[in-house]
Order: sequence, then C-alpha cells, then structure tokens
Amino acid sequence: MRLKKLLLINFKNILQTEITLSDGINCFVGDNGAGKTNILDAIHYLSMSKSAFTMTDGQSVAHGEEFFVAEGSYLSDSERNELLNCSFSRRGGKVLKRNGKEYERIADHVGNFPVVIVSPRDSDLITDAAEERRRYLNGFISQIDKSYLNSMMRYNAVLAERNTFLKRSSDEQMLQIYDMQLAEHGTRVYEHRKRIVEQMQPLVEEYYRELSEDREQVEITYRSELEQMSLMDILQRAREKDLVNQFTTSGVHRDDLVFRIGGYPLRKYGSQGQQKSFLIALKLAQYRLLAQSTGERPILLLDDLFDKLDMRRVQHLLELVAGEDFGQICITDCNKVRLETTLANAAADYALFEVEGGDIKR
Ligand SMILES: Nc1ncnc2c1ncn2[C@@H]1O[C@H](COP(=O)(O)OP(=O)(O)OP(=O)(O)O)[C@@H](O)[C@H]1O
Ligand SMILES: [Mg+2]
Repeated sequence: MRLKKLLLINFKNILQTEITLSDGINCFVGDNGAGKTNILDAIHYLSMSKSAFTMTDGQSVAHGEEFFVAEGSYLSDSERNELLNCSFSRRGGKVLKRNGKEYERIADHVGNFPVVIVSPRDSDLITDAAEERRRYLNGFISQIDKSYLNSMMRYNAVLAERNTFLKRSSDEQMLQIYDMQLAEHGTRVYEHRKRIVEQMQPLVEEYYRELSEDREQVEITYRSELEQMSLMDILQRAREKDLVNQFTTSGVHRDDLVFRIGGYPLRKYGSQGQQKSFLIALKLAQYRLLAQSTGERPILLLDDLFDKLDMRRVQHLLELVAGEDFGQICITDCNKVRLETTLANAAADYALFEVEGGDIKR
C-alpha cells in the first residue's frame, strides 16, 4: 500500500497542508515541536481510524477548532486506487469513508490499509504493565483477523458482566453460564495469540541479529495460564478465589508477553539501545506478518529514527527496510544533515520534506 497524496486540515498543529509522497522513503525533518510526528500520526489515523498516541479523537483537533479532516489517496500493491477520507468534529463525531462510501462499522476498516509505526513511545511496551503488551497484541492481531477483534470484544463483555455479578451474588448456576461463555471466547483469543507469537519468534530473533550484528540474542514468549489447562478448568479452580475477591482472577485478560535478552528480562538487563533494537525487531516482525496476511506491504512509519540507536544500528535498519520486503516508508528526524548523510551511506533514494510550525515543504 502506498500513500500518494495526503491532505490535512486542523490536524493537531497542522492547519492546512497537501503533500505528494514518494513511493519509497519519505523524510520529514524539522525542529522539536515542528509537527513531524503529527504527520506520521495522521497517516496512522487514516489506517487505524485512531491516533497512535492520544487517547481521544478530540485531542487531534487543532486547539480552538471544531473539526479535523484527513484525506489520503492510495495505490494498493495490486495498483488499485483508493481514497480514504476521515473527519472528526467535536459535535458530530467521526466519519470514515472509503472511495466516497461511509463504513457502517469503523472496525471493518482496520487491516485494509496496513500500517506499522516505530516510535520512542514503544518503550512503554517494555516498561509498562502487561496491559500495554496485550493492547499491542490486540491491535496487531485485529489488523490480521477481524474475527479476533470480535472474540476479544465478546470476551471483555462477558468478563465485565461476570465481575459485576460476583459483587452481588454467588449463584453457582449463573457463574457456570458465564464460565462457559468466557471459555468459548477466551480459548479463541488464546489460540490466535499463541499462533501469532509463534510466528513472530523466529522473525524477531532474525531481525535483532541483523540490527545488532549478532551481538546479543533475544527471545519473545507468550505467557498464558491456558498453557497449563483449559480455561474452563482454570475458571472452576479459581471460583472460590473469585468469590472472595469479587472479580475474575484468571483468564486471557491476565496474559503477557515476555521479552528476554541473553536469557534475562529485557526490562532489567537490556541497555536503552538494546531495548530500542528489540522493539524495532518486534515491529519489523509485525510488518512481515501483516504483509503476508493482508497481501499488502504496510506503510512503515519510523518516528525519530536515531532515537537511542548508534550509527551502525541505524545503518543496518535502513539497509533492512530499503530491501524488497518493505514498501513505502516515512521517517522523521530533527537533524537534516545527519539523516541525509546516513541515507546517502545506505545508498537509498528518498524525498525530503521540511517541517516548520505545522507547515510542510518538499
Ligand atoms: N490538538 C493540537 N492542536 C494544536 N497543536 C497541537 C495539538 N496537539 C499537539 N500540538 C502541537 O504539536 C506540536 C508537536 O508536534 P510533533 O509532536 O509532531 O513535533 P515533532 O516535530 O515530532 O517534534 P520532536 O522533534 O520534538 O519529536 C507541539 O507544539 C504541540 O503543542
Ligand atoms: Mg516527534
């Protein structure tokens, strides 16, 4: 998938812009606070119908304005033209149109225009609680398989009901019904997650080796109570505990991803650059799996390319993504000279955009 043209109105600090992108590497350079990350976020928004960073849609509307518009003209890998138009107004909410036709459910859109973003914010995946890693996994698998999102939403709905129920009753029959429903949806979620992480493992290891010149070994594993026994059995065993605690203490809402370097926890023993390299390897693995399953090479957004990486790793990264497996790329950096030198060393062609106070010039 390639974004040919991007039009933005009132998107954060970008009041009005229209840019034509290159099919290969696009570089956005400018000072801190210029609006570089905001451009990448607008591209992410069009693909995922939400920001990669802010919690609410309203936060993406320029201060003092009522609405924002983002419009992208795309060319798919099979040379199909596509037009996406997303608008959000503080009063009327969000409308997303593909080729002029409004989506009935915005969830139907996710995965049609695959995107992968690498940003300094990814470090939350390592430092934050398991919830952040589950959120990542959910967003990723949803782009691959719409039925996953459905199972996840149904699981969460039953879970919420069961938790409310536990606060006011201990009726065994009713709990049995909740458990059967949780087991049905939760087992599907588990199977999806397990399959995806198994596919990711060799890719993450391979990309990390290439980035680090084989200096360290990393591992990613999926941790779930369901590996020991069925969710139905888990829920039965935990029932007494759940009744005492008045909430559901076991299930796939407790799953986690475990990251290791040289056999030790990455959070405690990985240096900043090693952690960053791991996150990039993770995202590139995600990229490959998305490309395989959607049949479209995702748009790759590399925010703050040099963040925490040494020159050699940046060089390896650029060599990797300039290869055939990858398609269109958008890169940001605050140092134009550094970026241009590095790209020249990697012998990569690119288009350069200068960003200043929300204005973008090629
Ligand atoms: N809703 C909004 N309305 C207006 N301006 C906003 C809004 N949200 C964010 N901004 C502004 O956008 C600017 C940040 O833009 P962005 O994060 O894209 O900068 P950047 O070029 O990536 O900078 P850095 O090099 O520091 O990463 C800030 O000045 C911020 O105040
Ligand atoms: Mg930025």
